[in-house]
Amino acid sequence: MAISKENTRPAEMERVVTKELAEKFIEEQVAAIRAQVKDGKVLLALSGGVDSSVCAALISKAIGKNLVCVHVNHGLLRKGEPEQVCEVFGKQFDAQLVYVDAVDRFLDKLKDVSEPETKRKIIGKEFIEVFAEEAKKLEGVAFLGQGTIYPDILESDGVKAHHNVGGLPEDLNFELVEPVKFLYKDEVRCVGSALGLPDEMVYRQPFPGPGLGVRCVGAITRDRLESLREADAIVREEIGKLPVTPWQYFCAIPDFTSTGIKDGKRYMGWAVVIRAVNTVDAVTATVPEIPWNVLCTIRDRIVATVPGVNRVLFDLSEKPVATIEWE
Ligand code: XMP
Repeated sequence: MAISKENTRPAEMERVVTKELAEKFIEEQVAAIRAQVKDGKVLLALSGGVDSSVCAALISKAIGKNLVCVHVNHGLLRKGEPEQVCEVFGKQFDAQLVYVDAVDRFLDKLKDVSEPETKRKIIGKEFIEVFAEEAKKLEGVAFLGQGTIYPDILESDGVKAHHNVGGLPEDLNFELVEPVKFLYKDEVRCVGSALGLPDEMVYRQPFPGPGLGVRCVGAITRDRLESLREADAIVREEIGKLPVTPWQYFCAIPDFTSTGIKDGKRYMGWAVVIRAVNTVDAVTATVPEIPWNVLCTIRDRIVATVPGVNRVLFDLSEKPVATIEWE
């Protein structure tokens, strides 16, 4: 598919890979956003991912409280994520932050749904509805901020686009503000650091839109989801200490139980799966070696602290034939 001229990165544009170039880029974009938006209001769906966070930080630097960030907590975020978004954008940056607790709404809709693509569709559709409802509550918003980056434009039919159920309802007739649309990921991170975003946000590993929803295999239950969130935090903490971290590392929780033993009694518990992969483009992926002592620490912490889990597995499968995610 041909890319339109306005969506083509200018040939003369320098790669934004140093602090100085990032500062220059920020200055230019702040001026461009002010020129485009004037005293108008911009609405932005803030997931806490690096792209939307950098976009939000840039726009808030340009127009302050005229940026309204909406953070939808759908209950499928990783441990600590909603809190971090509220901390950074509610306190550190001068934007308005609307936090929407939509946990029950999403989990009720997902109850008893086990087919992965149906789960994705429900999460995508519900997200748009929640966001549109919030947008309609706000007066005088004419612009929509979006953290589109250049690979999103180049790969508009790629893996991510294939999975995501995107778009906004047409009756929300906004003009787009996309300050990072010509940047590659490493450049977005460089700008994020120069804007003062925390490293944890800037160097986050990729996280799918449907979040833990596609890692809580089969029909999501609240207790299994909570155990997944806890186990995932342990996996990320321990593997995150390695000098070189894999491209993506996380946890999945299958929807079967197996026998465990506690105080001499047998019982049925869940197994969690440690997943770590390296890839360049997410089309193929290999599995890096994780030091045995790190795996054992993860196992010990999970079985000692995560409710309902009695088994820890390591997924050796490469892509293909397996996909990176379990669903
Ligand atoms: P798979 O599982 O297809 O994943 O090998 C490839 C990459 O895409 C991410 N992924 C998603 N990203 N929405 C997203 O935004 C999704 O529904 C989705 N499913 C998978 C996955 O984390 C990996 O980086």
